Amino acid sequence: MKFFVDTADTAEIADLAATGLLDGVTTNPTLSAKAGKDFIEVTREICALVDGPVSAEVVALDHATMMREAEVLRKIADNVCIKVPLTIDGLKTCKALTSEGTQVNVTLCFSANQALLAAKAGATFISPFVGRHDDNGFDGMYLIRDIRLIYDNYAFETQILVASIRHGVHVLESARIGADVITAPPAVIKGLFKHVLTDKGIEGFLADWAKTGQSIV
Ligand code: E4P
Repeated sequence: MKFFVDTADTAEIADLAATGLLDGVTTNPTLSAKAGKDFIEVTREICALVDGPVSAEVVALDHATMMREAEVLRKIADNVCIKVPLTIDGLKTCKALTSEGTQVNVTLCFSANQALLAAKAGATFISPFVGRHDDNGFDGMYLIRDIRLIYDNYAFETQILVASIRHGVHVLESARIGADVITAPPAVIKGLFKHVLTDKGIEGFLADWAKTGQSIV
């Protein structure tokens, strides 16, 4: 399973990229606004920090303007992935861009039928939002199970990119279901490294090692 980080904070991205475990980045207009920098400039900086896909979202609602925005965005770097909303115009744009070989991430997916349409439109990634479903009293992971089943039934190549992840259980369930990618905030990814027994174990080992008075280097 690939790990993408969901942020436009370049310091956080650089920090995670240094682990060698980061496969890509997703941003959205809210995250880009939060970065407080010029959108094109910050997208260029992010693209230079990772080799994998960097999702940059269009903000137009009509197909023609989405195509013009995508034209600007895809010139930023080779690893830009154009993010479009799951609307009729978004999927028209997805079909046009993927037919030309541009990577597209279809975002704001909340139903399996929407995911089916995105796959038919040739989406590179589909982004179902699990956390926002949970917030509204529906277990978002059911959506991921349905999409996995449907994509496998028809051998669709669209990758399931689990988005709106809130905690480690979402990551674990995504891996169990066989999602292709997760995108999560930096704090959630960093939290995956942690376990209280790991910390306690290190503490104990170091205390015993100190008693030997030796050093390795
Ligand atoms: C995905 O690409 C979105 O940027 C993101 O996961 C949205 O998450 P949120 O529901 O926490 O805003």
